[in-house]
Amino acid sequence: MAKPRLHPDVAEVLLTERRIHRRIATLAREIAKCYSDKEVTIITVLNGSMVFLGELLHRLPMPTRLDSIVARSYGARTTSSGRVRTRCQWQLSLKDKHVLLVDDILDTGQTLKMIRDRLRRECPASLRTCVLLNKPTRREVDLQPDFVGFNIPDKFVVGYGLDFAERYRNLPCIAVLKPEIYRA
Ligand code: XMP
Repeated sequence: MAKPRLHPDVAEVLLTERRIHRRIATLAREIAKCYSDKEVTIITVLNGSMVFLGELLHRLPMPTRLDSIVARSYGARTTSSGRVRTRCQWQLSLKDKHVLLVDDILDTGQTLKMIRDRLRRECPASLRTCVLLNKPTRREVDLQPDFVGFNIPDKFVVGYGLDFAERYRNLPCIAVLKPEIYRA
């Protein structure tokens, strides 16, 4: 089979689509084992996690409810603004529910910690976190995700739902862009 052509702006592919899908299948089994047949309320952080969630969700065998929140801290930059802004609030009641917070990437941890602390106030029966990507060397807050797809080095990545200035979300792999693209 012909090798898929690399996007011209990509400098390096960190994770191929095949590798990501294989890992998500295993991650779904880990999550299923943890919850058994209990109902799980998934709160996903948009927009970055939508591709990851789509692949994960249909592999989860237990009953699920789904809701979302929109968070933003980067814009057209590769470093966090430090101010996490959330636009949309989840609608479902979380009291006494098993809540799984799903995000694309855990970087400094500011975003997930802020959302997790807000969800905690709803008194869920349990609250766990799941991220596709984890940059452990960048952590600024005390947060250990319960489920992690991949630990990656400290590089700004795009693709598989992750963006730079709202572009590249549709790349099927996780990649690093050429330096001139980030500078533009
Ligand atoms: P923090 O620093 O709060 O960041 O853990 C979490 C959010 O920041 C975005 N983020 C990235 N987005 N490539 C991206 O496209 C990256 O390497 C990256 N690092 C952080 C992302 O939206 C995440 O939810």
